[in-house]
Formats: sequence, structure tokens, C-alpha cells
Amino acid sequence: MVSVAVLGAAGGIGQPLSLLMKLNANVTKLNLYDIVNVPGVAADISHIATNAEVKSFLGSGELAAAVTGIDLAIIPAGVPRKPGMTRDDLFKINAGIVKTLVEAIAASSPRAFIAIISNPVNSTVPIAAEVLKAKGVFDPRRLFGVTTLDVVRASRFVRDLRPGVDAAALRVPVIGGHSGTTIVPLLSLASTPIDLSEAEVKELTHRIQFGGDEVVKAKDGAGSATLSMAHAGARFADSLIRAINGETVVEPTFIALAADPEGAEEIRALGAGELDFFAVPVELGPEGVKRIAPLGGQPSAFEREAVAVAAKALDTNIATGAAFVTG
Ligand code: APR
Repeated sequence: MVSVAVLGAAGGIGQPLSLLMKLNANVTKLNLYDIVNVPGVAADISHIATNAEVKSFLGSGELAAAVTGIDLAIIPAGVPRKPGMTRDDLFKINAGIVKTLVEAIAASSPRAFIAIISNPVNSTVPIAAEVLKAKGVFDPRRLFGVTTLDVVRASRFVRDLRPGVDAAALRVPVIGGHSGTTIVPLLSLASTPIDLSEAEVKELTHRIQFGGDEVVKAKDGAGSATLSMAHAGARFADSLIRAINGETVVEPTFIALAADPEGAEEIRALGAGELDFFAVPVELGPEGVKRIAPLGGQPSAFEREAVAVAAKALDTNIATGAAFVTG
């Protein structure tokens, strides 16, 4: 029985994510927070006949109440990139939003699990970590960047190439970060071996790395992935909730490697080097990260090269995030 807050609940991701959390039988309390439109969203969702009690929290004056007494905060709050806005402008706005929200969680529910969706995840997770450190409540086992959409895309895109594959059952470990070439799908270590040519591996890897662009293009500039992202966020939250309730669940997610220094050795040797954050398959338990799950084999030469490329970009992304808080 878990209390969840969705911060940014009235948005394109936030609304379907809130709906999916309302449908989760293990959620008993669902606090929906946004700076606009959230009373309508909450009233609408509250009529669904599950036991979760839905409450609306509107505006910064109600933020502290929204994050009091919660076990898990999921954060899709942010702004999408508008015409004329640089990536840097977008980063500064979303960075500020995530910082404010995590400060509130640190003050009111310092033990809550935090799952961050707001982009750029490679930087917003380090921001959250610095905020929690500054408040003296950082536990690397309890902070996550949601990379599940990359995992979901990997399974589905494999099926597009090999229609015999069960997309729902296939698990591809996706490591690294959560944008472009920082995303490294380890197709050679999929739960079911897939026979792919070198050209197919390259094509699939590129499609998984840049899958988000397909949605942006199809939406004709009106936004990015919302429904598939909400599904991915809800799947990650459900994994975490099942782990809190005692089940052992493995999901790749972007974490501080300090959560399991010993388990991180394999990924550091593979190319993560001294990076503080990396997406890795994580075995989740009641306290969050139980351990970093072994990869279960040797990645291919192509995958190792991709890790090296990812690590270089991630180094900058992580430093940018940390510097936003530490100055
Ligand atoms: N506090 C809480 N919510 C906020 C704040 C804030 N300070 N600022 C903005 N929001 C809310 C908006 O009011 C909106 O309801 O966040 C929501 C964002 O929704 P959309 O604009 O529809 O954006 P969405 O497509 O859902 O993407 C949100 O996820 O993938 C990332 O890059 C994307 O960072 C972006 C985020």
C-alpha cells in the first residue's frame, strides 16, 4: 500500500501517467500536483472505481502538502522545447523546476523514492542528487532517472524487425544515459537471443537511440512522446512499488553508481570509468536499489564502442547538472 505523488500531473505525460497510477491496485493515495489545470484532472481521475484516494494540489503554495507523507514522487514536470528556444534555455527552465520540486520532497518526505522523467534526465538526476546532498538526505538507492522508454522501444523495435519475437516478454538491457548516443542497447545480451546481422544491429541501435524523433516528427512540432512515456513511467513505478512490497524486480534505470559500488565495477570496466551516474540493470528491493544486476555476458565490440561514446557525452551532461546546483 503505497502513497504516490505525480508532480506535473496536468501535462501531456502527467495526465496519462496519473491515470495509470490510479489503476495500480497497490496505490492507496495519489497526490496530483501542477501549476495549472490539476483540479480538473484530479476530479476526473478520482471517479475511477479503484481504492486510491486522489487529491489535487495547485500551485507552489500547495507543493509542500503534495509531497508530505508520500513513499514515491514521480516527476514529469517541465516545459517542452518551443520554437526559438535553445536546448540551453530548456535545460535552465527544467533544471530550476526539478531543483524546486526535489527541495520540497527533501524537506517533507526525505525518505521518499524519486523517479525523474523531466528531461534532460542525464542532467536532472545529478541536479536532484546535489539538492538531496545539500539537505543531508541523499540516499543513492532511492533516486532514479526513468529510462524505461528506451527499454520499451528496444523490445518493440526488435519485433518490428523480427515479427516472431514477443515484444512484451523480450528484455534488452539498455545502459548509459537517456538521450541520443548516450543510450546503449545491449542487443547481444537480450533475454532471448536474437539473430541480427551487423547492419541490423547498427540500424536498430540508431532507431532506439533516436526513437523520440519519430514521435516529434509525427506530432509535427506539437510535442514529444507522452503516451508511451507515461506507460514507461507507470511501468517503472509499478516495478518499484512491487519491490517495496517485497518482490525482486530487475529494471534498467539511471542511478548514482554509489548505490552499489561493488556491483558497479563491471560497468566501470566496460567503459563507465569514474562516472557518478549511469543507466544499468538494477535489482530493486524494499529500499530501492538492492544491487546492480550483472549484465550476464560480454557485450560485443560494437556495444563497447557505443559505451565509450556515451560515457564521453554523459560526463559533460552530469557535470552540467551538478554545476547547476553547486555553482
Ligand atoms: N511545477 C510543477 N509542474 C510544472 C512546473 C512546476 N514548476 N512547471 C511546469 N509544470 C507542468 C506544466 O504545467 C505541465 O502540466 O509540467 C507539465 C508539463 O507538461 P507538458 O508541457 O505537456 O510536457 P510533457 O510533454 O508532458 O513533457 C514534460 O518530460 O520528456 C520530458 O522533455 C520533457 O521535460 C519535459 C517533460
